[in-house]
Amino acid sequence: MVVGISFSTQDYLGLSREPSVREAVAAALAEYGPHAGSSPVLTGHTPLSAALAAELSELTGMEHVVLFPTGWGAGFGAITGLMRRQDHIVLDERAHSCLSHGAHAATRNVTTATHLDHESVRERLAAIRKGDADNAVLVVTEGVYSMDSDTPRLRELQELCLEFDATLLVDVAHDLGALGPGGSGQVGAQGLLGEIDLVMGSFSKCFATNGGFVATRSREMAEYLSIYASSHFFSSALSPLQAAAALQSARIIRSAEGDRRRADLAQVSDRLRHSLAARHLSVLGERSAIIPVETGSVAVARLAWSLAERRGLILALIEFPAVPLGSARFRMQVMCDHRLEDMDTAAAVLDESLTEARSLLREPADASGSAS
Ligand SMILES: Cc1ncc(COP(=O)(O)O)c(C=O)c1O
Repeated sequence: MVVGISFSTQDYLGLSREPSVREAVAAALAEYGPHAGSSPVLTGHTPLSAALAAELSELTGMEHVVLFPTGWGAGFGAITGLMRRQDHIVLDERAHSCLSHGAHAATRNVTTATHLDHESVRERLAAIRKGDADNAVLVVTEGVYSMDSDTPRLRELQELCLEFDATLLVDVAHDLGALGPGGSGQVGAQGLLGEIDLVMGSFSKCFATNGGFVATRSREMAEYLSIYASSHFFSSALSPLQAAAALQSARIIRSAEGDRRRADLAQVSDRLRHSLAARHLSVLGERSAIIPVETGSVAVARLAWSLAERRGLILALIEFPAVPLGSARFRMQVMCDHRLEDMDTAAAVLDESLTEARSLLREPADASGSAS
């Protein structure tokens, strides 16, 4: 077992260690047992699932919520459930695997748009509508990109969709709960609560458990999805334990305690970004729970990862296929209860480890890594 400061755990609000979440899970275990027992369309759901859907509906400003046993299944199911072979999908080139696999499983008519480039989305939509005025078009993006910590301008994207009679799907896995007023994520932060066509999310970053959901204003779309999304219909439901953890987490996220945790998370994130930048490390993106750090070559990254671990720094090393072939980065993920002073220590250890790795491999420092 490795002991140290971990930046590799996706529990941004620290809710998996929160006593009231653990008590809710224990109560669900006593009442319902550990197993869903069947698909949600049979008897897989419990009253906890309905209460969870109601909380998510408040959090997203969308009336209808379909639950999935994993976030991956929610993204894949949302796209494959709604889109037909003759439909079209415009995918940001950095969209998560569940979205891109869903898109390619649904139709051959998939085009990728340059990352966060709305002009590129417009060009794709115009080209599609020039040749096909009738079939559906889905535009797919994320609230916060998990490898880059950057964000689209959602209002512009939603307006583009309206202009070209397309539907917008936003994956809020990394921002719902972690930021925005009341934990409403980038959708709330950009003043769009209840205005995005489709919102999908995961419980695995802020809701202390596995699972996911799709939220929509349309009853028809939710009903259609609950039948045609195979990862919903043909998969055992979210277990009662998952539902209990996510439900109690959602209640905290929407409370003053959630505000406190988000404020702490922002402070920790800013401190780590600041400490890394002060050491001239190359930090990508904007403030979120994700702090991506460029490393230079893959060889340097691998060696620095192991040197850092020996010094008590636990990091997620990201390589292909999560980032382009031949590149690597550390994806540092912070939690609200990380200690501020540990952020300075972490930056120093990472800097030392990268410098040592580069020296051992005789690679020069460059702009995409430590310069100190
Ligand atoms: C953007 C994004 N969407 C969806 C998922 C899938 O969620 P889960 O891990 O809960 O299945 C992830 C998790 O890695 C993610 O980063």
